[in-house]
Amino acid sequence: MGKYIIAGNWKMNKLPSETYDFVKEVVEATKGATCEVVCCTPYVCLAPAIEAAKGTHVKIGAENLHYEDKGAFTGEISADMLVDMGVQYVIMGHSERREYNNETDETVNLKAKKAFEKGLIPIVCCGESLEQREAGITMDWIAIQIKKAFAGISADDAKKVVIAYEPIWAIGTGKTATDEQAEEVCGAIRKLLADLYDDATAKTITIQYGGSMNAKNAAGLLSKPNIDGGLIGGASLKAPDFAVITGAAK
Ligand code: PGA
Repeated sequence: MGKYIIAGNWKMNKLPSETYDFVKEVVEATKGATCEVVCCTPYVCLAPAIEAAKGTHVKIGAENLHYEDKGAFTGEISADMLVDMGVQYVIMGHSERREYNNETDETVNLKAKKAFEKGLIPIVCCGESLEQREAGITMDWIAIQIKKAFAGISADDAKKVVIAYEPIWAIGTGKTATDEQAEEVCGAIRKLLADLYDDATAKTITIQYGGSMNAKNAAGLLSKPNIDGGLIGGASLKAPDFAVITGAAK
């Protein structure tokens, strides 16, 4: 439906000194990919990552940004800083930042608006906990996250968003959602977007699955009609594995 995008989310892994060579490896390994290939790296790895990706098909993203333009926010990074470096994508609302760094639906909304204002593409994460899944409120929960994240965002901007559906219980656990579970939620997200905007907008938005997607299970997940890509943690740290996933996105 939406454009196929496979994005690595390195999290707090890889050193700046190993980034240039690793991104070169990713460039080489993913050469034949027909999807968009993105590496989202820690802030300190962005400069060597951008240098290595320059003039290639690989795009570079950040893992967070601040929603204010500038000012007294010690330790924070603005959208202008990212754009100035050549960053194109930025992850927001990841469950790890929601849990450890006070990320909320409100800050995700502010960050998404700032990203659009500055020309960055937001990768907006959503997903339920195991407790919520077992209570049967998965889609109620995700609907709240999506509605709040998209509040005040025009259809034109919404078309550029990448949504990453990441069940929290599947992240880094090796416990992937089944193809059917992932498709069910991604399809429901697309229906919700059609209600919030319109069918054409909903069809244009890239909806990724994330949570222990790897070289073995990617093809099954990516064969589903409403799964347009993946946000890849662990498996993005090995170029050959990442390349199998990008190869499956077609
Ligand atoms: P994982 O992480 O692939 O290691 O489960 C995915 C993510 O958190 O984006």
